[in-house]
Amino acid sequence: MFDLLANDPASSARRGRLQTPHGVIETPVFMPVGTQGTVKAVHPNELRELNSQIILGNTYHLWVRPGMEIIREAGGLHQFMNWDRPILTDSGGFQVFSLAKLRKIKEEGCYFNNHVDGTPMFLGPETAMEIQATLGSDIAMLFDECTPYPCTHDEAKKSMELTLRWAKRCRDWVDQNQPDAGAHGRSATQTKQLHFPIVQGSVFQDLRQHCARELVAMDFPGYAVGGLSVGEPEEDMMRIAEWTCPLLPEHKPRYAMGLGTPPQIVELIARGVDMFDCVIPTRLARNGTAFTHEGLMNLRNNKFAKDFRDLAEDTHPLCRGFSRAYIRHLINTQEVLGLRLISLHNLHFYASLTSRARLAIEQGCFSEFRAEVNARYQTRSD
Ligand code: GUN
Repeated sequence: MFDLLANDPASSARRGRLQTPHGVIETPVFMPVGTQGTVKAVHPNELRELNSQIILGNTYHLWVRPGMEIIREAGGLHQFMNWDRPILTDSGGFQVFSLAKLRKIKEEGCYFNNHVDGTPMFLGPETAMEIQATLGSDIAMLFDECTPYPCTHDEAKKSMELTLRWAKRCRDWVDQNQPDAGAHGRSATQTKQLHFPIVQGSVFQDLRQHCARELVAMDFPGYAVGGLSVGEPEEDMMRIAEWTCPLLPEHKPRYAMGLGTPPQIVELIARGVDMFDCVIPTRLARNGTAFTHEGLMNLRNNKFAKDFRDLAEDTHPLCRGFSRAYIRHLINTQEVLGLRLISLHNLHFYASLTSRARLAIEQGCFSEFRAEVNARYQTRSD
């Protein structure tokens, strides 16, 4: 279900094609985040125009609101949100730990009070897989613990071992409840939900490698690297990818969760990562910040007050003709159109980045593309 179409001879970058129940995904791919069953402020038709091949949804948020009874009756998340392309869902633990109150982690799973009305809830491996089966996502993530940073080797080891035990319980639930799913079939049209486990182990090479080997032995159709961008230096993030990717099966997709800036994405592609998701293009848009090839452009800055140029020459077609000065005015007056225009622009920027990466790998010029992105892009705010 994952075909490798080209490899970059000078790095570990790959160009691939992943078959899912709702269609094919060309990799490397960036997945816009649609936490609540919507990519904030963007219409599904606009996502299609943006060439968004797959979006991300969240078990935790959708379980809390509107709840599985409504989504089940709607016929699944695709029907409910009127989106017919692939969806990947995160398994919930990561969100419980960043949002919920009074959370307690036990062998069986997480006890917490939800962030909306404080209702006590429990999420464990089996529930996370059951919710994702109800959502009907194309790719469901296994339930994991994202190890906090920093932590000792001992803490990271205990946490990673819990993630492995939970992965086994997720697999058992899937085997009992969706016996044809995932790893085993290799038909041209993938009709069943795919399940990806998550490699943890913090910044420790032995733990990352042990976790990767154990999960590979369980034979899943794709693998994620988690616990990244949790406060560790960027060199550690790159090292973790370098330790982990070579241990993952060549002919299966690899997903780096929650990343990243444009140079981070390109550097991780060079280390063999195929899939990315990140809130930053849409989150920064809502705070008035646009991505450009040279770095971040903060439209709130006074210097754009009379700047009547487009956001960028290669901005999204729907953003053409709207000047920086006008978008700055919209942001300053909290007009919805302002954040919509920057969201479209930023998602277009990320979609172009990954489509240029795909082309560069196919055409044998990924090294030049990588050097250009790194040389031009500095994360600065002006
Ligand atoms: N999103 C970003 N990082 C992680 C992680 O480590 N685990 C999960 N489940 N989701 C994430």
